[in-house]
Amino acid sequence: MKFRNRLTLALTATTVLTFGTAFAAVSIIVHRSEQRELEEAVLETARGEARELSVIPPEHWQLSEEPGPAGDDEKPLRRFAAIFSDNGNVVLKTKSFYACPLPDPLAHDFRAAFNLDCEGTPLRAIIIRIPSHPGQRLLFALPRVQLEADSAFLGRTMAMALIAGIAAAAAVTFVIVRQLTRQHDFIADAARTVAAGDLGARVKIGSDDEDIVQLASDVNEMIVRLGLLVSSQQRFVAYAAHELRSPITALYGELQLATRKERTKDEYRQAIGEALDSARRLKTLAEDLLALARVGAETEPLRSPVQLRKVVEQAASEVTLAASEHKVTISVTCADVTVDGRARDLGRVVRNLLDNAIRHSPEGTNVTVGLDLSGSLVKLWVQDEGPGVPPGDRDRIFEPFYRSAKDHDQDGPGAGLGLAIVQEIAKSHGGRIFVDTESEGGARFVLELPVPQQEEVPA
Ligand SMILES: Nc1ncnc2c1ncn2[C@@H]1O[C@H](COP(=O)(O)OP(=O)(O)O)[C@@H](O)[C@H]1O
Ligand SMILES: [Mg+2]
Repeated sequence: MKFRNRLTLALTATTVLTFGTAFAAVSIIVHRSEQRELEEAVLETARGEARELSVIPPEHWQLSEEPGPAGDDEKPLRRFAAIFSDNGNVVLKTKSFYACPLPDPLAHDFRAAFNLDCEGTPLRAIIIRIPSHPGQRLLFALPRVQLEADSAFLGRTMAMALIAGIAAAAAVTFVIVRQLTRQHDFIADAARTVAAGDLGARVKIGSDDEDIVQLASDVNEMIVRLGLLVSSQQRFVAYAAHELRSPITALYGELQLATRKERTKDEYRQAIGEALDSARRLKTLAEDLLALARVGAETEPLRSPVQLRKVVEQAASEVTLAASEHKVTISVTCADVTVDGRARDLGRVVRNLLDNAIRHSPEGTNVTVGLDLSGSLVKLWVQDEGPGVPPGDRDRIFEPFYRSAKDHDQDGPGAGLGLAIVQEIAKSHGGRIFVDTESEGGARFVLELPVPQQEEVPA
């Protein structure tokens, strides 16, 4: 069933329930109050009658059926009365009671009114004692005809009002709901267009309803973001394909050249060496792409404690060869800090930062790795004495495949994925990576990680 119809049905059902309960309550209250009034009239008249009888000797008793108290329609009500002796026999009764059987007076409580039927005339009756004649009981009743008629009239009126109310409520609800949900249709249309692959779809906002306007603008915002995401993915694939093509083309060319004619041993060695370089670049690129995909998809909680100093020392020892080739020294000053995380990924962060630092360091300079606690954060930094990162590049260098113009031209070993991987790992550890803008002379990359609760080991 459509949402619109369900909503209409639900609101109508609520109206039925609310009106129905209210009308039923009113009917019951009115009926009870009329019944109470009748009972008071019955009791009062019965008492008057009993008082009169009490001062007259029983042999002169008379019961008249007229006139009774005024009823709702202002006509006096016909009276029904009977006197019973102490053994329950009828002593005297009004003409109105002639045609019908009388109740057993001993079976009824005094003062408690009860219903009685006399030849199709519904009555409200009561039995009371006659003062100064303790054995004698007076049965007195008045017709309930008016009361029943009033109740029936009220019931009919209420039922008609209820039906009219429900019909009106259903109609109004339907119109309002249709008005409201028409905007939903526009939003659903836009969602369907997007699902079909057209990210240019937008919801046209033509409503005064603040919520709908907000929803529509949220959906539009979502589509815009989705578009950015898709184009960034497309860019990523294009860059990846481009980066893959260069070493593959080089590899292919080198191998083709080597096999074109007979070569000397040294020429073969050189060709194989060049092919190996291209293969190495391909391998690095494939590994980086895999690492980026894996870290981005990581969902496992970071529960294992990692001793960061060990991670840093291990990474530093892995780059000693590269450092000595570049004639760069590495010094490590680390506090004993433990964080929650994945040791392998944190090791990759330090290695990538050290690789970059070594590559950008002039010969004979030093790269420093530091680690300490500052408040609720663990700070790990890698500082070099190279040219530093140009201010305009400080955010962009963390994008996949982005390299500063200088590095781009040099066709270095990396494809621009190192810092993107570092950023993904930092994020997945609840931390961040950034270039310290305050550092002078050289680049200073800082990784901030949250301090785990009760996990910190003092130095
Ligand atoms: N220590 C550094 N000093 C100066 N520039 C750096 C440094 N580290 C990284 N960069 C810049 O950031 C870019 C991206 O780095 P990265 O993602 O590791 O890619 P790659 O190392 O493959 O070039 C580099 O091309 C370089 O321009
Ligand atoms: Mg790098």
